[in-house]
Amino acid sequence: MQARGPLMIEHRLIERMIAVIKDALAQIQSSGKINPHFVDTAVDFIRIYADRTHHGKEEEILFHDLDKRPLSAYDRSIMNELIQEHVFGRHTTKALVDANTRYRNGETAALNEIADKLNTLVGFYPKHIEKEDKVFFPASRKYFTGDEDQAMLAEFREFDRKMIHEKYESIVKVLEKPK
Ligand SMILES: [Fe+2]
Ligand SMILES: [Fe+2]
Repeated sequence: MQARGPLMIEHRLIERMIAVIKDALAQIQSSGKINPHFVDTAVDFIRIYADRTHHGKEEEILFHDLDKRPLSAYDRSIMNELIQEHVFGRHTTKALVDANTRYRNGETAALNEIADKLNTLVGFYPKHIEKEDKVFFPASRKYFTGDEDQAMLAEFREFDRKMIHEKYESIVKVLEKPK
């Protein structure tokens, strides 16, 4: 498997979650409410899987390695766009968490903002994924030899291996905080 293989497999799971969020948006429209626990689950998926685990491999390994190579001006501009889109996704998710907290605390008007942020994520991810799958990943492959690509695949696997430990260590740390 090429190094981009796991990234593209992860894209498919992100797309499935985006389809679930689309269904939730239709339910908001018809029922005028949302279960805040659903938003918690969607946020956990976006933060831990899509951002930390998936964007983490892209930024800390693929983009980091590419940054040291003689990228064409066009490829570098696409990479910078992708990095900015990751930042945009983080800001949108933070706003979604804030709106969900307000909604949970009884501010029913926050539902509009929850729907708006979910809608933003539903619009943003498929375009971002398509740009990587069809444009950037194929273009970036030429900057690596076959051996380098396989070494990156091994780095991806090592990165993933740490993720479950990182997640649960962070949960314990939060719970340990003095009240
Ligand atoms: Fe990305
Ligand atoms: Fe990606």
